[in-house]
Amino acid sequence: MADQPLVAVTRLIPEAGLNLLREATQIRLWEEELPPSPEQLTALLRDCAGALTLLTDSIDGEVMDREPQLRVISNFAVGYDNVDVAAATARGVAVCNTPDALTETTADFAFALLMAAARRIVEGAEYVRAGKWQTWGPKLLMGRDLYGATLGIVGFGRIGKEVAKRAQGFGMTLLAYDSYEDEAAAREFGVTYRSLDALLRESDFVTLHVALTPETTHLIGARELALMKPEAILVNAARGPVVDTAALVEALREGKIGGAALDVTDPEPLPADHPLVKLSNALVVPHIASATVATRDRMATTAATNLLAVLRGERPPHIVNPEVLERT
Ligand code: GLV
Repeated sequence: MADQPLVAVTRLIPEAGLNLLREATQIRLWEEELPPSPEQLTALLRDCAGALTLLTDSIDGEVMDREPQLRVISNFAVGYDNVDVAAATARGVAVCNTPDALTETTADFAFALLMAAARRIVEGAEYVRAGKWQTWGPKLLMGRDLYGATLGIVGFGRIGKEVAKRAQGFGMTLLAYDSYEDEAAAREFGVTYRSLDALLRESDFVTLHVALTPETTHLIGARELALMKPEAILVNAARGPVVDTAALVEALREGKIGGAALDVTDPEPLPADHPLVKLSNALVVPHIASATVATRDRMATTAATNLLAVLRGERPPHIVNPEVLERT
């Protein structure tokens, strides 16, 4: 209806979310497989009161200044490093995300990466597919045990804690690094806090679960990789730029660490001829940690619910900058 607010949706999200939006808004939907270019995004957002965005859309102050009527940017993700939150807050624009929708699913996937890398599952499947399987081999594709090994969890928030729960079931020793040390949570999840350096030195597996901020950009660089055990495996299901890609390539090439299993990379996507794609001790998948049918439905409904709440003048379930609500 003409009097309903106009909202932009920057990709085809699951219907559950679109249906919620259709009840109360007029949707301008970007239906292409690839994200809109900055120019296309500008056109898509024109005159919109709300935007349901993806982590592939860069939304900065300039974008917001072009659309002063914009009241809410609702990101279809838990991470929101694609949005300039300070710029949004300064302009009274609410920024929302979908944290609880994907916690367990992402932890499951980080664990899947850990197991796949430790037990060389992808290499094994490639070996069979290439017709190389001739006999049972006593030294064929030997990996590393999770059982009895030490897992270092960098970032002990929602997802880090769910990873700890899974690792407990595998009989792992658990270390965590976080700028905020919650002792009660450490006891609950059987984790001991360490400094980042100590965690890197002591862990057989290191898994990253921090948000991308200026402080966590290149948190894992050449110095940190050099601290890791030569057989250690690094898992990243957080954000690509948390790891210095050039340093990681060198560490994998030179055997400074044993391997890496990456759901996220810097850049994204990785070109097929990138060293991380070519190296046999790197396993790269295309940013799919939250990609289950149920979770993507939940993310869609959460993002839609957040957006609609702001447009109705209500408090959304998940808002990153609640101070903008207090001002209105
Ligand atoms: C995905 O990476 C997310 O932040 O939800």
